[in-house]
Formats: sequence, C-alpha cells, structure tokens
Amino acid sequence: MLTRREFGQRGAALLTAAGVRLPMWERALRPMVAPASSTERPLLLGVDYYPDQTPENLWEEDARLISEAGLTNVRIAEFAWSLMEPSEGKFDFTWLKHSVEILHKHNIAVILGTPSAAPPPWLTEKYPEILMVNSEGMTVHPGGRRFTCPTNKTYRKLSLTIATEMAKNFAETAGIIGWQIDNEFTLQQFGRCYCKYCREGFQDWAKQKYGTLDSLNQKWGTAFWSQIYTDWRQIPVPLPSNGPPNPGLALDYDRYQSYANASFAGEQLVMLRKECPQHFITTNSVGAPFDTLNLRELFRDLDFVSNDNYPGFAAMFMEGEVTPERVGRSSAISHDSMRSVKGGKPFLIMEEQSGKAGQPSFGPQPHPGQLRLWAFQAIAHGAMGVNYFRWDTARFGAEEYWHGLLNHDRSKSPGFEEIIRTVADMKVLGREALESSYVAETALSFDQDCDWALQIQPGHPKLTYRDQLVEWYGAVAGANTGTDLIHLDEDLSKYKAVFAPVQYVVGARQAENVRNYVRNGGMFVAGFRLGAKDESSQIVNMPLPGLLRDVMGATLKDYVPIYTEKVGVAFEQQLAGREGQCGLWADLLVPESATVLAKYVGAYEGAAITMNAFGKGKAVYIGADLDGTSLSRVIRTLLEMAGSKSEFTSPPAVEITRRRAGGREWVFALNHSNEGQKITVSGTFTSVLDKKNFDRELELKPYEVVVLKRS
Ligand code: GAL
Ligand code: ZN
Repeated sequence: MLTRREFGQRGAALLTAAGVRLPMWERALRPMVAPASSTERPLLLGVDYYPDQTPENLWEEDARLISEAGLTNVRIAEFAWSLMEPSEGKFDFTWLKHSVEILHKHNIAVILGTPSAAPPPWLTEKYPEILMVNSEGMTVHPGGRRFTCPTNKTYRKLSLTIATEMAKNFAETAGIIGWQIDNEFTLQQFGRCYCKYCREGFQDWAKQKYGTLDSLNQKWGTAFWSQIYTDWRQIPVPLPSNGPPNPGLALDYDRYQSYANASFAGEQLVMLRKECPQHFITTNSVGAPFDTLNLRELFRDLDFVSNDNYPGFAAMFMEGEVTPERVGRSSAISHDSMRSVKGGKPFLIMEEQSGKAGQPSFGPQPHPGQLRLWAFQAIAHGAMGVNYFRWDTARFGAEEYWHGLLNHDRSKSPGFEEIIRTVADMKVLGREALESSYVAETALSFDQDCDWALQIQPGHPKLTYRDQLVEWYGAVAGANTGTDLIHLDEDLSKYKAVFAPVQYVVGARQAENVRNYVRNGGMFVAGFRLGAKDESSQIVNMPLPGLLRDVMGATLKDYVPIYTEKVGVAFEQQLAGREGQCGLWADLLVPESATVLAKYVGAYEGAAITMNAFGKGKAVYIGADLDGTSLSRVIRTLLEMAGSKSEFTSPPAVEITRRRAGGREWVFALNHSNEGQKITVSGTFTSVLDKKNFDRELELKPYEVVVLKRS
C-alpha cells in the first residue's frame, strides 16, 4: 500500500444541476456570509487556518487579513483534538467558538474538521489497543498522525464522541457552513492496519460476503498450502508468514481495509447529518494514482469530493527528469480521478500548495506564475473552489517547512500577491464557470482491484499499476480532449474511447458493460494482462483475455515477462512509425477475427497490437508494454480514429480543458513550461480575464493561464 514516504518518492452545477432540488446545506448557505444583497452561498475560495497553533492576540488580525485578501472561507480544527478534549470527557470549545466568532465578524465562512486523524496523548496512553499495527506486525507509535486502527470500537467511539460534541456545539453557530470528516484517510505511512481488531473485523466482513466457509474456501482456493478454514475465527490477516499470502485473501483484505475506513467515516457522517442538516459534509483525499482506498466507497454518501493538491511534493521526489509538464500531469491525473469519483460533480480543493512544500526537507520554490497555474489547473479540471494550505507558516511541529501565505515572521510570502490575484480572477470567472461541468470525450479505467491485485502479485518485479496508469494517462490526456477516470462498470456510452491499462482483474459485469459499449459503437483499448484474473483473484479458466476474448477478437499464444531480451515492435500501415521497444511485458497475440496492427521483432513471435471490429465499435489490444513515445503515438492515432481530436493545436507543455454549463463553454489553456508557447485555435475567442480577442493564434507566456470563451 502507499506510504507517505512512497508518495514522496514517486513522486452544480454542483448539486444544482437542472431540476435537482437543492440539498438542505446549500439552501441554508444562501443567506450566509455573502454580501447582504446577495442570496447566494459564498464561493469556496479560502485558506486552511490554525487558530489552535496561533496566539489568540493574532486572531483578529488574521481574520482581517484573510478577509482583505478576498478569501471567503477557512477550514479549521482538524488537528485540534487535544485542545477540544484536554482530558477524557472534558470538552472545551470556548477557544474555537471565539475564533469562529472573529472569523464570522470578518465575513469568513468556516468549514470545521473533525479531529480523528490525530488523537491526543492521554487517549493513546489510556487506550493503547487503538494503535495501528503495520504490515510487519509492529505496533505503530503515537507521535505522528493516522497511527490508529480503523476498526477498533473504542477508537471509533472516542472519535464519534468528540465529533458529536463539536457538532452539537456548532450546529447553530453563525458562520459554520460545512464539515470535513477526519483528514486524508488514504495517505498514511502504513496504508493498512493488521491488528487483532482488524482481523476480527475482516472475519465478520468475509462472513457477510461469502455466507459459508465452503464458498470462501472455494473462492480463495484454500486447498493450496493446506489453508482450508473450518471456523471463521481461523482466518488470518496477510502478515508475514514465510511465503506469499493467498492472493484472494490478500485482495479481500485490501477491500476490507477500504470498507473499514469508509465505515469509520460513515459513523461521523450519520451523526453530522442528524445534528447539522444545514451543513455540507465532505472529506479530503489525494486521488490517482496514490490513493489506497476505494474512493467511490469513501465518498458515496458525502456531498462532494475534496482533493488536496501539492504539485511541489510530486516534483520533490519524482523519478527521472522533473519537467514542469510532468509535474503538471501529476496534478491533472489526481483532479481527473477525484472529479470522476462522483460522476463529474465539481469538487473542492481543500488544500492547495501556497509556497515551498516540505516536511523534513524543502521542496522547490514555485516559480512566479506556478501557484496561479496550479490553482487554475484545478479549476480547469472541474474544481468549484480552492482552499490554500495554509494561512501562516508554522514555527513549530513537523511541518515548519511547509510554507503558507504568511512567512514564519508573518510577512507576506513570495506567492502572496499572486494568490490574491488568482482568487480575484476566480471571482471574475464567476460561479457559473466554477460550477460548470468538465467536458470529457475519453475515459481511462482506474480500478483499485487491479492496483491492489498487481501489488500482491506484480507478475514482473518492476511492473506497477501506477506506472502504467500514469503513462497511459499522459498519452490519453495529452490529446486535450478531456479524460475521466472511471470504473469499467459505469456508463461508458458518452465516451468516444475508453482505455484500460493492465486491466488484470475483470468482473463479469465489467466485461458485459465493455461488450455493450463496443457493440454500440465505442472504441475500447486495453493493455497487456487483460482479463487474466476474476474478482476473487483466481486466474480465469479460459483462454486469455478471458471474458473479453470475443470482443478483442484475439487470444494469447503466450505471455512473457521481459528481463534481458531486446524485444522490438514493428507497426503496420495504420500505425506507421518508427520501430518501438517493448519494456517489461509482452502478450503474444493471435488474431481470431482481429486485424494485426503491430508485430514483435526479435525473440518472440506474435502480434503485439490487434484491432477488432465488434458490432458497431472497435476493440484494440495493445499486448506490448510499449515505450512512452510509441504508446503516445499509437494512442493519439487511435483517438483520431475514434473521432476525438482537439480543435486546438498545441505543444506538449500546454494543457487545454473545457467546462460547460447550458450553452456556455469555457476553455482553459495552461502553459506548464517556463517558456513561451503558441497554440492555434479555430474560430475567434475572447479571454475572459483580460478581455482580449484571439483569432487563430494565441501566445502563452511562461506558466500563463488563459481562460477563453468563444466570441
Ligand atoms: C496534507 C495534509 C495536511 C498537511 C499537508 C502538507 O496531505 O492533509 O495536514 O500535512 O499535506 O504536508
Ligand atoms: Zn486495526
């Protein structure tokens, strides 16, 4: 699972969509905080603020400055448990009330965070059993955060109690508009807990799922290595056991941990809905490719998704050459995945980088223009608002090096003015644009089952789902026609092409959905290892690619992990181009009804890429782990065949996205490079922010963002 270290190392129309009745929280927001003449809720353009870490005599000044900066809201208190409950059952919210009052007086709306991501020392001292156990079986120590078990009933009760006290105390408090439950369930140093409570929880979950031990034994294939369970309580968790775990059990354990976190959040959600029906409720996460939980499950009943965006973190630890374009792409994939979690609803950036990133070390200083670019990039990908992390820069604690809008000495940070200008421009852009829908012509499958199953059994030690996902995403999204990150059992009919890199696990519903999509005219493009496993993580008992063989019109002669051989890929006419290289894997394809688009050169024989006409659509199998340049070229050619081509011609460093509401469309052109770039447009456009007209050609300065409307 992803650790925070690995994360580093790798680098209405929201709810107001036509005809939809406004939820209570949104109706309640309308009269609040906004200028007296307006009946609308505030745009969420704010900062993450820490009165708990700031001397009280500065609160007034902070509120005034935040307000003068044009910011409309703050998020507070998500790490303030020890101040709100200094000892068990003794609650103190006077300080928080006072802070909220001051903020409200300055017209700043407040999102409150429930504090369960970091319990106070009295709690872990008294209830050490709530501590997480990591994948080596070692108990995680308190002193950091997210070191608790998601299953443990005592911890759930204590978390719910403090959240309930907060809710009761702030349900009617003027200025409060919503809640963030906990903080980043997904990102933790150890992505899973393996304690005895989780083991029991897993056993109960498995009982619910399988009903009988016979069924479980069969699905997991426990006849192997003498693992047949005769009592639910015998079922272990996948801790080290002198041999790899049962893959079915291990995949189910990932699913269980996701469920445990989602149901932990769910307890607070049910309570907040009851106590604070007029407030919105969300939680924050980080999206693809790093999320360790099933986000659809986590966000299912929340009002909207919140994303945390730190391009500087990615830059700090990225492998290979750190180009501004790659940094930009790493945020784009996260936004696209988060927007897609709730079917494209606008999401909120709960934390946006505001200066140098850093925990023990500093990340790079964002260049002038980059902070603006990154915040606008989130909007360009469907965000409805941005909260900057954080207002001031802490002078103590583990994040002293994480820069906010104010420096350590409370002077304005190098990015301050740029941020203020950006927020002002977002207001000019306005609500309609900020809450409009993102336009996506293509989709990429982002499937936790495949990610988890491939981590359990990579097949090749260097093969990771994440690397493949990012590589394919770059190629697909680089076409600038808009990309959603979906599950294959969702509605695919709206996409011109759907891409599925290492779709290793394929369920029957997914296969049927893909079959119908292609039959009705869609283009489905799959990578190697397609359909090798079923949802129980058993190898399918049919020729590969298993359930999708008829759709792909091809089968596999063999599949080959590549270590020392040089394997080339020669392209046929339709994909004409320089010979490509095959990296880690080669599925040797034999066409049945498909046409061959590329063949292997060298050690192996067989087709490397096939295309099949199926019903009204096409199914393409890319059996080779193609080098990046060839993959991009192939994907771009396929997109053109599918009729997905941007009306703009742009260099690779420029990202172009579109959002729509009613008949209106906004085009975002983002230059991720530190050099000027040119794009060509067809038709005439006006830039929304500086009202310039463009016809045919548009020049973007380094890191410049332009928002265009057709004129
Ligand atoms: C986020 C987290 C914040 C802060 C920030 C900067 O992931 O939610 O609390 O730690 O990163 O490191
Ligand atoms: Zn646990």
